[in-house]
Amino acid sequence: MHPARSPFLDRLATDGPIGFGASTLGNLYRRIDDESARATVDAAWEEGLRYFDTAPFYGFGLSERRLGDALRERPRDHYILSTKVGRLLVPGEAADDKFGFHSPMPFDPVYDYSYDGVMRSVEASLQRLGLGRIDILYMHDLGRATHGKDHDRYFAQALAGGFRAMEELRDQGIVSAIGLGVNETEICAESLLHADLDVLMIAGRYTLLNPGGSAFFEECRRRGIGIVAAGVFNSGILATGSRGTPHYDYETAPEPIIRKVAAIEQCCARYDVPLPAAALQFVLAHPAVTTAVIGTGSAERITQSVALARHPIPAAFWDILRERDLLAEDHPVAST
Ligand SMILES: NC(=O)c1ccc[n+]([C@@H]2O[C@H](COP(=O)([O-])OP(=O)(O)OC[C@H]3O[C@@H](n4cnc5c(N)ncnc54)[C@H](OP(=O)(O)O)[C@@H]3O)[C@@H](O)[C@H]2O)c1
Repeated sequence: MHPARSPFLDRLATDGPIGFGASTLGNLYRRIDDESARATVDAAWEEGLRYFDTAPFYGFGLSERRLGDALRERPRDHYILSTKVGRLLVPGEAADDKFGFHSPMPFDPVYDYSYDGVMRSVEASLQRLGLGRIDILYMHDLGRATHGKDHDRYFAQALAGGFRAMEELRDQGIVSAIGLGVNETEICAESLLHADLDVLMIAGRYTLLNPGGSAFFEECRRRGIGIVAAGVFNSGILATGSRGTPHYDYETAPEPIIRKVAAIEQCCARYDVPLPAAALQFVLAHPAVTTAVIGTGSAERITQSVALARHPIPAAFWDILRERDLLAEDHPVAST
């Protein structure tokens, strides 16, 4: 059996509470040029971020290419890099907008959670990254939230070989840790019955707006399984606020969500707390959260987000959220 908590996860935790999520480098939601992509990673490095996450899916190879280019000259042992398996890239049409990625690389993603699919994906990722090693390998978007009625078929593929391939890669020292990168906790619990996973990247499910899964997080903490919280702004609305046409979970935010964010914003204004500071610190306060990743395609926002993680938040702010039924009593918070 794998040890209760690998020293690698301790390193992830001590490298700092915040990492950089590079879907934006694949032009998610908007196109950014190569210089801005490079400047964003450089800003992350200058701010002391040492955990970087990407995936073949992000711009169909574009994010991995840009991230690898930006990191290649950095000392390899000084940062942790994760990418994902579960989709192979096959030649496809160029497009202005495909799955929310603007001007991505001319490939199409094809789901493949099989043993061979995992092995082929890792090899291709290493070549796109132009790096000799991946530290954490996540199986990407397994579960009903992504696959609906096709879930059983893809999960069967993972059980028949995909998880074994990942465990072999870890046993051979090709990667240091393995896990899932998903938008739900249910598939995490289901997968842990079958696979020996070290770390789970869970997006958008434990946020100030949507604080579910706390009990599952606690169980992971007891079992020594790391949690990387992603989508801490629920795709944008918890950073941009309720005005305009904010993003919520990859789409335009629906009215009830906009109303809840507006109500949280009223509390923020009263205690001079920036909304994204509250969103980020809420996630980081959960004892099971090893690290949180922030996603942006802007160097300035990297610097801003790091400052937001330290912005003072009085206990009275969390109290008023509870009084107004915007936060349940039992959610851990940290006040400064
Ligand atoms: N299934 C999975 O494994 C999975 C799913 C989702 C996410 N993730 C990981 O988590 C990372 C982040 O997720 P995400 O990008 O979906 O969600 P997110 O971090 O909740 O939101 C990112 C969005 O918020 C905006 N933003 C960030 N900081 C801001 C600020 N200070 N002010 C205003 N706007 C701000 C960014 O826009 P700008 O670019 O304009 O700044 C970006 O569009 C991904 O890159 C990926 O690494 C993994």
